Amino acid sequence: MPRKIAAGNWKMNGMQSTLSELQRLEDKHGDADIAILICPPFTLISACEDTPFDIGGQDCHAAEAGAHTGDISAEMLADVGASYVLVGHSERRTDHGETDALIAAKSKAAYDAGLIAVICIGETLDEREAGTTLDVIDAQLAGSVPDTADALTTVIAYEPVWAIGTGKVPTTDQIAEVHAHIRARLQDRFDDGSEFSLLYGGSVKGSNAADIFGVPHVNGALVGGASLTTADFSPIIAALEAA
Ligand code: PGA
Repeated sequence: MPRKIAAGNWKMNGMQSTLSELQRLEDKHGDADIAILICPPFTLISACEDTPFDIGGQDCHAAEAGAHTGDISAEMLADVGASYVLVGHSERRTDHGETDALIAAKSKAAYDAGLIAVICIGETLDEREAGTTLDVIDAQLAGSVPDTADALTTVIAYEPVWAIGTGKVPTTDQIAEVHAHIRARLQDRFDDGSEFSLLYGGSVKGSNAADIFGVPHVNGALVGGASLTTADFSPIIAALEAA
């Protein structure tokens, strides 16, 4: 069975004072039997070392080290206690022009450092309206998931770009179609394709989480805004536990 994962992507939010939220989350979900992954900004990763939760970076460089001002390597993330890293988030693809090839290289760097790569894919609104969603998903899976991926080292997050931070959520039928498609592609390509955890991301909230987690092949969520407070994240975690 794929592992259930409730992942919080704090994006460029969070100060040292925010860490008290993690303590509140620990009080409620410290002994959850699903994986709870927190991806804070780089500046807070080492301060998270005592939490019971999995910790991840939001990005890494493809190189191990070197002259890359402002960048962070996968090894550095592992060194301060991270066990996961997000790669290919649509905000990175858009804001930093990241290509599928670069995302594959970052994923390989994550594997080399012993990190699990959460590879993010998803179509834009134009692509959905043009009817090309599954083609976009195919191209992103082919281009950004390395051939060396397996279910222990790789999680796939399907995040329709138009649903991120907008409050717009696809219908459960739309999520079901894409998740079934991703599962089938992974099964075609990898011996353990049935075991990869597949996350849905984009405007997940306590009010829609149970419906989303009821969709076949949805094994968890990648949550942005609603992961910033325990009050918002806790019902999502509870819904995943109950699913
Ligand atoms: P959102 O972000 O939950 O705020 O829509 C999700 C994400 O970008 O991972």
